Amino acid sequence: MMSNTNILTSLFLLPSLAQVAFSAVTKRATACNNSPDLCSKTYNNITHLGSHNAPFLRDASTGNSASGNQFYNTTVQLSAGVRLLSGQVHNNNGSLHMCHSSCTLLDAGLLSDWLSEIKTWMDGNPNEVVTVLLVNSDDASASDLGSAYTTAGIASYAYTPTSTTAPSEWPTLQTLINDGTRLLNFVASLDDNTAAPYLMDEFTYIFENNYDNTSPSNFSCAANRPSTVTTSSALQQNLMPFMNHFLYETSSLFGTTIESPDLGNITTTNAASGGTGNLGTSAAECTTTYGQAPTFILVDFFNVGPAIAVVDTLNSVTSPVGRTNVSTAASAPAASSGSTRSEVSTFSLVAALIVAFVLIA
Ligand SMILES: *[C@@H]1O[C@H](CO)[C@@H](O)[C@H](O)[C@H]1NC(C)=O
Ligand SMILES: *[C@@H]1O[C@H](CO)[C@@H](O)[C@H](O)[C@H]1NC(C)=O
Ligand SMILES: *[C@@H]1O[C@H](CO)[C@@H](O)[C@H](O)[C@H]1NC(C)=O
Ligand SMILES: *[C@@H]1O[C@H](CO)[C@@H](O)[C@H](O)[C@H]1NC(C)=O
Ligand SMILES: *[C@@H]1O[C@H](CO)[C@@H](O)[C@H](O)[C@H]1NC(C)=O
Ligand SMILES: *[C@@H]1O[C@H](CO)[C@@H](O)[C@H](O)[C@H]1NC(C)=O
Repeated sequence: MMSNTNILTSLFLLPSLAQVAFSAVTKRATACNNSPDLCSKTYNNITHLGSHNAPFLRDASTGNSASGNQFYNTTVQLSAGVRLLSGQVHNNNGSLHMCHSSCTLLDAGLLSDWLSEIKTWMDGNPNEVVTVLLVNSDDASASDLGSAYTTAGIASYAYTPTSTTAPSEWPTLQTLINDGTRLLNFVASLDDNTAAPYLMDEFTYIFENNYDNTSPSNFSCAANRPSTVTTSSALQQNLMPFMNHFLYETSSLFGTTIESPDLGNITTTNAASGGTGNLGTSAAECTTTYGQAPTFILVDFFNVGPAIAVVDTLNSVTSPVGRTNVSTAASAPAASSGSTRSEVSTFSLVAALIVAFVLIA
């Protein structure tokens, strides 16, 4: 039988129990990077799905350019779960543009406009941590890159590292969100970031496997860049493993080899399992090699597979929250009305190939 004191205690406990239950519900409803289970994970203890050359589209807007690596734009990529966006920055007559190999081949516009698109998405999705990886093709300075961040109004979202060497533990997603520093920016490469300390030199914090693969049998987990590390020394230095998993197909023009994203093998390349070169098998192999899952996985045509399924498995995410589904078809979405670009697509392809030929020659 309960004493009076116990009854009183129970009565007092009731509201707080209810509060606990309520806060548990509230907590469950709040997801970070599409899952409530990821909020308390450190940035380097989750796998981020990356879109290789995010702004370079193979769709109506580029006349289905053979140089395009993605069917869907950056906004759609983010809404579908992509959390790392990579792209090449080129100096186009004094302005920084997102261009594939050269601005004559595929010019996706100003870096500041692309960052602005990312900012708009982040404004609407306040609980999401996003990573940008810029390939600094023309060695732009931190000051010039930083100006584009400022123009886009996105510099204020950027995380500034607390150390000039790779830490063993990065902040949790929740900490990055609470601190308002949920945009992480890596640049390959940047010698001096004094003018914009949030721009992190990629290979100070990350190592990558090989990326220039042309056959499904070519994928490897071994460290390839920076050239100064082996896989084990990279891991010892806390560099985060970055797994490239995309293929180039080669063609010949006037006897010169040209590489373009391999669409023919894409359903295998991005698959969770199956034939040689599938994403699921490579991810499992690299997880074994590293003793942890890769922190980043970079793919072409991210919607095919879908590649996000492999990343969800690595993150033990079974019920993603707040994602927009995208078709897994290995083709661009139907062009929006009024487009007349299809007429120029053959011309664009030939022009692109000639430019590529001139560049390589
Ligand atoms: C991205 O693509 C979607 C779907 O086609 C379109 O509605 C949206 O306007 C595009 N966004 C940008 C910034 O181009
Ligand atoms: C480069 O910029 C200069 C100055 O803004 C302009 O006069 C020139 O036409 C531009 N050249 C090209 C190829 O766009
Ligand atoms: C890639 O795979 C092809 C076909 O198996 C092989 O001939 C080639 O040597 C491989 N390249 C590398 C760099 O492993
Ligand atoms: C897949 O890649 C291999 C090796 O490069 C190539 O021989 C084959 O034609 C490709 N398959 C398709 C369907 O494109
Ligand atoms: C996160 O940590 C768990 C537990 O140690 C590990 O199994 C998993 O591979 C890690 N993931 C990453 C991306 O580091
Ligand atoms: C999105 O796709 C997943 C897996 O194919 C499915 O389980 C889910 O119901 C879909 N969600 C929506 C909103 O269509």
